[in-house]
Amino acid sequence: MSESTIIVERSERVGVIRLNRPKAYNALSGILINELLDALRSFESDTNIGAIILTGNDKGFCAGADIKEQSELSFVNAYNQDYLKNLNDGFFAVHKPIIGVINGIALGGGCELAMMCDILYAAETATFGQPEITLGTIPGAGGTQRLIRAIGKSKAMHMILTGETISAKEAEAAGLVAKVLPLEEVFSAALKTASKIAGFSAPVVAMAKEAVNEAEELGLKNGLHFESRLYHATFGLEDHAEGFQAFLAKPKRTAQWK
Ligand code: CAA
Repeated sequence: MSESTIIVERSERVGVIRLNRPKAYNALSGILINELLDALRSFESDTNIGAIILTGNDKGFCAGADIKEQSELSFVNAYNQDYLKNLNDGFFAVHKPIIGVINGIALGGGCELAMMCDILYAAETATFGQPEITLGTIPGAGGTQRLIRAIGKSKAMHMILTGETISAKEAEAAGLVAKVLPLEEVFSAALKTASKIAGFSAPVVAMAKEAVNEAEELGLKNGLHFESRLYHATFGLEDHAEGFQAFLAKPKRTAQWK
């Protein structure tokens, strides 16, 4: 039997997925994509999991689409199987927050996979790039759409049209990543953050994630309307009553989320 292309672990309420195709810099083969989507679905349906971490292995985060597999795909085959669109669709279906820990290269589909996550922590040694142009193609897993939202048109256009990479520090300054830390600290820092998020009310965390993500889909007026609706909906949750009662108690106490 062939080895799994991902490693799945748990740390209390945090589900951890490590990409693990070391011989190909964790490139996104069809098998890896299917295993990754299965792991996401399994964490999504597990009530004992409150947040997910996606990271790479010693070789880095991910070198993008599997170049050998893509080289064999015709237009019709790619179109018919929604090549890589299935990855975006799978991430859209996850209500739990996903923290991407970018521990090295994130190139092409690897950079796009990072951007499918909700929060990015990067090692100082991480690099981000969209080198598709050097292969005679364009970013096809969200790069042309998400990069501009993350870092603005000029920087996104520069990366996509030149294929040049940016460093972790540049990515942080541009707003692509939330934190940059030394390689040996980045995973444990992300785990601490994921555990903190997983400790809050699960429905409230999911609603907050949904409201933020909708900001990219809706204009300001519709976005504010959507936010109000979800905000008011939290008033009906037991966790809302608990959170407010815990704050107002004398002395103030820690909320016990259901
Ligand atoms: N797909 C398949 N195999 C890959 C790969 C990829 N994306 N990236 C690296 N590999 C394989 C290499 O073919 C090589 O395999 P062999 O040992 O069998 O020859 C092995 O990984 C090691 O690669 P290198 O010898 O090139 O290692 P390096 O340390 O010199 O360079 C690297 C590492 C910078 C990641 C370099 O391999 C590289 O530039 N990879 C391609 C990155 C890229 O262009 N990504 C975009 C892909 S297209 C895409 O992602 C489309 C999209 O939008 C979704």
